[in-house]
Amino acid sequence: MNFDKKMSIYRDAVEDELVKHTALLGGGAGDDVTRAIEYSLLDGGKRIRGILTLEFCEIAMQDDTSTKQALPFSAAIEMIHCYSLIHDDLPCMDDDDMRRGKPSCHIKFGQATALLAGDALLTYAFETIASSGAEPEIIANAVTELAKAAGVKGMIGGQMVDLLNENRTITQEELCQTHAMKTGALISAACRLGVMAGKGNADLLKRADDFGKNLGMAFQIVDDILDVTGNQDRLGKPTGSDADSGKSGFIEVMGMDRSRQMAEEYTQKALLSADSEFLKQLTQMLLHRNM
Ligand code: IPE
Ligand code: IPE
Ligand code: MG
Ligand code: MG
Ligand code: MG
Repeated sequence: MNFDKKMSIYRDAVEDELVKHTALLGGGAGDDVTRAIEYSLLDGGKRIRGILTLEFCEIAMQDDTSTKQALPFSAAIEMIHCYSLIHDDLPCMDDDDMRRGKPSCHIKFGQATALLAGDALLTYAFETIASSGAEPEIIANAVTELAKAAGVKGMIGGQMVDLLNENRTITQEELCQTHAMKTGALISAACRLGVMAGKGNADLLKRADDFGKNLGMAFQIVDDILDVTGNQDRLGKPTGSDADSGKSGFIEVMGMDRSRQMAEEYTQKALLSADSEFLKQLTQMLLHRNM
């Protein structure tokens, strides 16, 4: 199957799974929060993390028809990612008014509802894994994996340092550490969750980890580059946001040319542990993306 076709099958599968889970939320007293979740979670986003989960499950199973058991995990990782974006856009964080081509969650629903929608997505991600029907040991491992990646040693920790680094001079080491935590951890978890769902061995789990960490670094460097060079309409979010908030991102610390080089270097490193043709093409595509 060609790359584009496979991308679109995976994307639709992740999308359908997210629709299914949001429909289960119902309405009732928390109706506003459900609407905010639907608004932010559905119909937008590249779904790269969920797609990685499905592809790594397929690699682990060595069977291209059996990624079904990874679907709840792919939805869970996208829920956590979406929550991180809703909170990331809040005035107390990056203060961005656009996300995925429409007004950010807090612009549309107000800050309190956006905060709660993020919180709800965080908890619902774990409920989704816990009720996935996977074997208890796989569920326990997946929950631990996701909690660690999203927590203080992963995404949250990285987001904290990212804010603390605003308007100060940081070293290359601090910069890479921040990016590894705020973005690399979740992307690496997306890959590892796929291996877990597909009952892959420890070797594959390690390769998924290496791949995800390197891809995650390349991904965030490209995100930083696009914040300067990208087109707002195509990106679906504001450009120039990092400079406006005094971020110490790749462009500010390393300069544009070196940032481009480093995105290429991390891409090459990721390719060393890319175990399928699809992963290789995805990795290259993400380096050259414009959205
Ligand atoms: C944006 O992630 C935030 C980063 C970690 C760079 P994506 O570029 O994957 O955002 P969506 O999901 O496609 O909207
Ligand atoms: C966000 O990084 C990383 C997250 C964990 C959400 P950015 O702040 O650069 O992401 P965008 O550019 O707003 O999507
Ligand atoms: Mg941010
Ligand atoms: Mg941001
Ligand atoms: Mg950015």
